Amino acid sequence: MRTVITLKMKKNRSLPVKFLHDDNRFPENLVELFLKEYTKQGDRIIDIFAGFGTTLFVAEEMSRVPFGIELEKDRFEYVKNQLTNKAILYNNNSINLDKLNLPMMDFAFSSPTYMTEFEQENPLTGFTEKGTYHDYLNFIQAIYTKLKSIMRKGSYIIIEVSNLKNDDKLTTLAWDIGKKIAEILAFQGEIIINWETPEEEKTNGSYGYGYDHSYCLVFRKIE
Ligand SMILES: C[S@@+](CC[C@H](N)C(=O)[O-])C[C@H]1O[C@@H](n2cnc3c(N)ncnc32)[C@H](O)[C@@H]1O
Repeated sequence: MRTVITLKMKKNRSLPVKFLHDDNRFPENLVELFLKEYTKQGDRIIDIFAGFGTTLFVAEEMSRVPFGIELEKDRFEYVKNQLTNKAILYNNNSINLDKLNLPMMDFAFSSPTYMTEFEQENPLTGFTEKGTYHDYLNFIQAIYTKLKSIMRKGSYIIIEVSNLKNDDKLTTLAWDIGKKIAEILAFQGEIIINWETPEEEKTNGSYGYGYDHSYCLVFRKIE
């Protein structure tokens, strides 16, 4: 796979109006690209930050078997109602994934909710708990440690993430998450996605967060 790929930032599914203010989905073309490269029909795919369901919908269209976990109830219900019976989605915090009796997975693809160094609430608790950036990174590592236990040996785990730049304040989120997860899974390298966004739709860069690109960090469960 090339290490720099240009994709259109174009989401094909419409979202209900009540969600539009918080449309932090990645587009379907990103999921298609990685499912083609890393998976085959019938494989079990998991997104532990399922959001508005992009990974699950694309996986279903490509005859993979999707699993997902989403913290927010209204998002969970929106996605759940559009999936077929084979797909499995939980309304839970991924930190509990070891209690969900999930089968072994062939591939994981997710983008977590982002946090800057300057915030004081951990988004991975649904913004219900105080927490520093350091706590957030430890929380992500704890979730991925649990995820590792349900990943097939040799399988790939991909995290889509960006650094965050705003008013000259910069958080090296992608690199910090990369380092934290590399302590538990074998880091295989990054793929840079160069996002093409129509001029009128750009907000703070083609991707957002001050950037025109994001990273897909590729990890593998070796042992
Ligand atoms: C960036 S969004 C994912 C969007 C998704 N990729 C899509 O295309 O729709 C991250 C999602 O993770 C959810 N989330 C955050 N912390 C979580 C946790 N600890 N467990 C499960 N879901 C969580 C958020 O509610 C949010 O919907």
